[in-house]
Amino acid sequence: VEESYIMIKPDGVQRGLVGEIISRFEKKGFKLTGLKLFQCPKELAEEHYKDLSAKPFFPTLIDYITSGPVVCMAWEGVGVVASARKLIGSTNPLQAEPGTIRGDLAVQTGRNVVHGSDSPENGKREIALWFHEGEVIQWTSTLSPWLRE
Ligand code: GTP
Ligand code: MG
Repeated sequence: VEESYIMIKPDGVQRGLVGEIISRFEKKGFKLTGLKLFQCPKELAEEHYKDLSAKPFFPTLIDYITSGPVVCMAWEGVGVVASARKLIGSTNPLQAEPGTIRGDLAVQTGRNVVHGSDSPENGKREIALWFHEGEVIQWTSTLSPWLRE
């Protein structure tokens, strides 16, 4: 089953946007399978964003992600990875469409409040990276007949 790693970044936590952001994925109809508040160590931030390690903004990105607690989430559902990226909106919040999380709630790329996996493979990789075994819960949602025929 398809999974996405979604993370509310430190600015989202500090700005009191945790409930608002979780609510958007809940209301869409995806299933929450993992959730925790977490202070990310530098090594984990570097591993998570390793594909960007050559970028000039990499050190400030690592400082940003480790600057306060984040909310780590695993979400499950058919099409969740691409759909979550749409709900989140463009990397640059000034270019993100109104109605998206970044479009509604952020103004700068370096403070764009939320992360979403960019492929199903990275969804699995990132959930394994951020969660310990036993922290991701398989459960049956009683809503499923009301979400899919
Ligand atoms: P994530 O969901 O966080 O992975 O964002 P993304 O997939 O929309 O963008 P990408 O993976 O290319 O970049 C990861 C993160 O690095 C972005 O979300 C930004 O927080 C940060 N970032 C990307 N480009 C820039 C930049 O030009 N300047 C700064 N300061 N940060 C950047
Ligand atoms: Mg990315």
